[in-house]
Amino acid sequence: MTVHIITIDGPSGSGKGTLAAKIAQHYQYHLLDSGALYRLLGLALARRNKLQTLHDEECVEIAKKLDIQFEPNEFGVLVKLDGHDVTNIIRSEQVGEYASKVAVIEQLRAALLDRQYAFAQAPGLVADGRDMGTVVFPNAGAKIYLTASAESRATRRYKQLQGMGSDAKMSAILANIQARDKRDMEREVAPLKPASDAYIIDSSDLTIDEVFQMMKVHIDRLFA
Ligand code: DC
Repeated sequence: MTVHIITIDGPSGSGKGTLAAKIAQHYQYHLLDSGALYRLLGLALARRNKLQTLHDEECVEIAKKLDIQFEPNEFGVLVKLDGHDVTNIIRSEQVGEYASKVAVIEQLRAALLDRQYAFAQAPGLVADGRDMGTVVFPNAGAKIYLTASAESRATRRYKQLQGMGSDAKMSAILANIQARDKRDMEREVAPLKPASDAYIIDSSDLTIDEVFQMMKVHIDRLFA
């Protein structure tokens, strides 16, 4: 049976996560949030005091044996690490930092590959990340690269934080996003870049629904 694979890569704040979930729901496909895997591994290693020794073989073993579960529920997906709910913890800035440290280590990325391949099940998969179309699923039937200017991503994040009652400064948010882009794009292993056969969408001046429609037209044409 054919397993249709749709990859959605791009920088943080481009709307990737929201769009990947909408596309997966529309086609009734499985969903891989690969960023969550890096966050979970970062948290697992931090809890074991291993963040200073990420090149150790022991860290590769921890990555391979990572005890995690993704349990869909009425609110989204419950994420567990070592049997405990970490759904909210892994979204913190702190765990984002751990994840970005883990993400530059080649052998740790390699240790997470099998786990990512395991998500590719019938009828299909929507894989969200940085290297889904370039490294993990290079033969995917539909590849999308969703981007947006750093300024528009910073504005979205600013509004989101304001809505949560935070008094974060716009200039600090923008600087943070630019630094993260640089780290993701300039790293040696699996840098963030569009696959040569990716459909590139710039969401700076588009609504979620407009981007969703563009993606759907593209995917339907390829999978027709
Ligand atoms: O998308 P996110 O913010 O949850 O990703 C967390 C970190 O993991 C971020 O530093 C980028 C990294 N990442 C990666 O290197 N490769 C992926 N496929 C997904 C995320």
